[in-house]
Amino acid sequence: MKTAEEILRTLTLEEKASLCQGDTFWTTKAIPEKDVPEIMMTDGPHGLRKQTGETDHLGVNKSVPATCFPSAAAMACSWDRELIQRVGEALGEECLREGVSILLGPGANIKRSPLCGRNFEYFSEDPYLSSQMAKHHILGVQSKGVGTSLKHFAVNNQETCRMSVNEIVDERTLREIYLASFEAAVKEARPWTIMSAYNRVNGEFCSENHHLIHEILRGEWGYEGVVVSDWGAANDQAKGIREGFDLRMPYSGEAMKERIIQAVKDGRLPEEKLDETVRRLLSLILEGAKNRREDAACDMEAHHLLARQAAEESAVLLKNDQHVLPAGKREKIAIVGAFAKYVRYQGGGSSHVVATKHRSVLQVLDEDYPDVKYSYTRGYRLKRDRIDEEYKAEAVVTAAQADRVVVFAGLPDGLESEGFDRRDMRLPDNQNDLIETLIKLNKPMTVVLFAGSPVEMDWADRVPSILCMYTGGQAVAEAAVRLLLGDANPCGKLAETYPLLGEHAPCALTYPQHEEAVYSEGVFVGYRYYEKKRLPVRYAFGHGLSYTTFAYANLKLDRGEMTDQDTLTVSFDVTNTGTLPGREIAQLYVRDVESGVPRPVKELRNFVKVSLRPGETRHIEMKLGKRAFAYYHVGLGDWYAEDGEYEILVGAASDDIRLRASVTMRGSVQPQKKYNEYVTMGELARLPGARPFLSAMNTSATPAPAMTEAEKEAYLEDEDDMREVAMDLTAMSVYMPLIKVADMTAGAFPYELVEQIVKAINE
Ligand code: BGC
Repeated sequence: MKTAEEILRTLTLEEKASLCQGDTFWTTKAIPEKDVPEIMMTDGPHGLRKQTGETDHLGVNKSVPATCFPSAAAMACSWDRELIQRVGEALGEECLREGVSILLGPGANIKRSPLCGRNFEYFSEDPYLSSQMAKHHILGVQSKGVGTSLKHFAVNNQETCRMSVNEIVDERTLREIYLASFEAAVKEARPWTIMSAYNRVNGEFCSENHHLIHEILRGEWGYEGVVVSDWGAANDQAKGIREGFDLRMPYSGEAMKERIIQAVKDGRLPEEKLDETVRRLLSLILEGAKNRREDAACDMEAHHLLARQAAEESAVLLKNDQHVLPAGKREKIAIVGAFAKYVRYQGGGSSHVVATKHRSVLQVLDEDYPDVKYSYTRGYRLKRDRIDEEYKAEAVVTAAQADRVVVFAGLPDGLESEGFDRRDMRLPDNQNDLIETLIKLNKPMTVVLFAGSPVEMDWADRVPSILCMYTGGQAVAEAAVRLLLGDANPCGKLAETYPLLGEHAPCALTYPQHEEAVYSEGVFVGYRYYEKKRLPVRYAFGHGLSYTTFAYANLKLDRGEMTDQDTLTVSFDVTNTGTLPGREIAQLYVRDVESGVPRPVKELRNFVKVSLRPGETRHIEMKLGKRAFAYYHVGLGDWYAEDGEYEILVGAASDDIRLRASVTMRGSVQPQKKYNEYVTMGELARLPGARPFLSAMNTSATPAPAMTEAEKEAYLEDEDDMREVAMDLTAMSVYMPLIKVADMTAGAFPYELVEQIVKAINE
C-alpha cells in the first residue's frame, strides 16, 4: 500500500481540493485511480447511527440497530474511567462490524447552563471530569482501530442559533473551563479527528478560528489529526485550511471544491497549506481503510450487559431517607407514571440510536421478577402537559392499596433535544402535580427520574427517596429495577449541580442569546458559581448516595512546601463502614486560600472510584502537579501557580468534604509584567524595585480624602470603626496610579520621579 506522502505527490490540484469535503453525507472522497479509498463516519457518541437509506444529521431517518449505551450525561455520573473505556471498546467493535471508520463523538462541551438542549450528550460542568471521561471514551474506541471525533470544538454551549451565535469569552475562562474540557483528551488520547463547532468564538467561526485551531490546537497542543467540520459548519474553507482546518462535511457541491482551487490560484491559499491538509486526510483515510475487517463480529448480548452495567453505575441515588430503598421483593408496589411503560432511555437528535433491544420497567418486572407483586397506573399524559383528573384518581387508588409507591417521571423528548434549548428547568406540570398528590398518601415513596439534565424538584424535601437514571441507554429499565430492588447498589455521583431553581444558574439572566452570548460569569460555572455565591442548591456537584456507607481517614501530603516544578503526593484511606459491598467515588479538590485573581472556592483536580467489601479499607494515592494549583495567567500567556497556601480537600462530594490539609507553594515564576505610569501604589508596595523610592516618599504625597470634623467625632466614639476608616484610607491609596500622585501634588512629587520608578520596576 502506498503511503500518504507517495499518494500526495501524484495528486492534481483538483484532486487535492476534492478530498477536502465529503463525497456523500457520511463518506470521504475516494480516488481509486490514485489508490485513495473512501471511509465512512457515523454518529456517535454513545451508539452507532449508521444510515443505509435516507441520510440526515438530526436523527430523523432510520439507522441500523446498535447498542444504545448511556449518554454522556449519565456515563459521567459513573466517574469511572475504566468503565467508559470498556464502553468505548464495545462501540469500536460495533463500528468495525458495520465498516465504520470514525465514530462522531464524544462531546466534551461544558454544561454552561442546565438548559442547553444537548446537555444529555455532554459530560459535565467541570472540565477535569469532562476531559477524563472524553479521554477514556476515545482510548476505548481507538484501541479497536476506529477513530473518534472529539466534538464540538469549541464553546458550543447553546442550541439556540447554534449555527451563527458569537460566543464572547475572555481568555482565562476559555482556557480554564471551555478548552480545558478538551485539552487532556486531545493531548493524552489523540483523537483521530476533532469536530469544529458551528458557532463563532470571539468573532470567528470555529472552523476558521485562528486562535482556536492555529494557535492553540495545532500550535500549543501539537494536534496532528484531522479537523472535520460539524455537519455544515465550514464557511470560508480556504481561510480554514490556512488555519489548520481540514474536512468539510457533508458533501456540499462542486462549488466548494472550485472555491479551494480558486483560492490556490489567487494566492489566497498557499498550496503547501493545502498539502498539509491533504496529507492529514490521506493518513486518516489510509489508516481507517487499513483497519477495516470484512469478518468483524461482536457479541451484542455482551454489549447489552455492558450497557446495563454502565446504566447501573451511572445512576445517582439523590436521596434515601430512613433507608426507604431498596424495596422489599415481597412488598406490593404501586408503579406510577407513563415512563414506566415508555422508558426514555436516550435524547433526540443526531445521537439517536435504533437500539438492539430495550424493555420497559413493566416488562423487566414481569420477566425477571415474576414474584414481585406490582400494579401499574399511567398517572399522567406524556404527549400533552395537561393534568388529567381521571389518571390522577386512578393513581391515588393504586398507590393507596400498595405498600410503597414508585413514580417514574422525567423529561419527554419534546422538552429536551439537540436543536433547541429548554425554556425552564421544570418537569411537566402534570408530573409535578401527580407527585404532590401522591406525597399526601404518606407512603414509602420513590421518584425515579429519566432526564438528560437537572430538573427542579419543589417536592424533593417531601419525597423520601429519589433515584436519577438520566438518559441511561437501552438497558436503563433493567438497571433501575435492579437498583430499586437491591440487586445492585447505587454508586453514581452527580457530574453537575442540581440548582434549586433554573433561575439560580450562573448565566440564567442572559441564556440563551441570539447573536452574541457574553460569558460574563467567567470561570464561575456550575459549582464554581454556586459555591462562590453561597447559593444553596438542591443537590451539589459530586453528590450521590449508596446503600452502604464510607468513612475517610489518614490524609497525608508527602510535603508541606512545594515549588511549581514538584509533584505533591496525596494519600488517604476509604473504608466501607456499612454492611453491603459498594463502590465509592472519592473526590479531591484544591482551594487557593488567597489569590491575586478571583478564583473559585475550590476546583476538582482528581478522583478515584473504588470497590469495597463491608469493612474493607483502600489506601488511595493521588499526584498533583503544577496545573492542579494553577490558573491561566493572561499576561503570562501560561498557567501560573502563585505562591502561597493551598488547601487539599478530600471528600465524598463537593459539599461533603471529609479531610483537609495544607501545602505552601514557593518560588513560582513571577509574572513579568510590563509596568507603566499607571502602576498603582498597591502594586508598587509589592515590587522590590520600588522600595527605595517608596521609603523616600513623603507621605503627604499620597493624598487621602479628608474627613469632616463631624465624621471624625462620630467615628471616635468607637475604636473599631476608626480602625475600619484607617483601613479604608489605605485601601483607597492602594488603587491610586503613580502618575496621579504626581498630578495631584503640584510638583511636590515630580514627573521625573514617576519615570524613574517605572524604569526601576521594569528592570
Ligand atoms: C451534530 C453533530 C453530528 C452531526 C452529524 C450535527 O448536527 O451537531 O454532533 O455529529 O450533525 O450527524
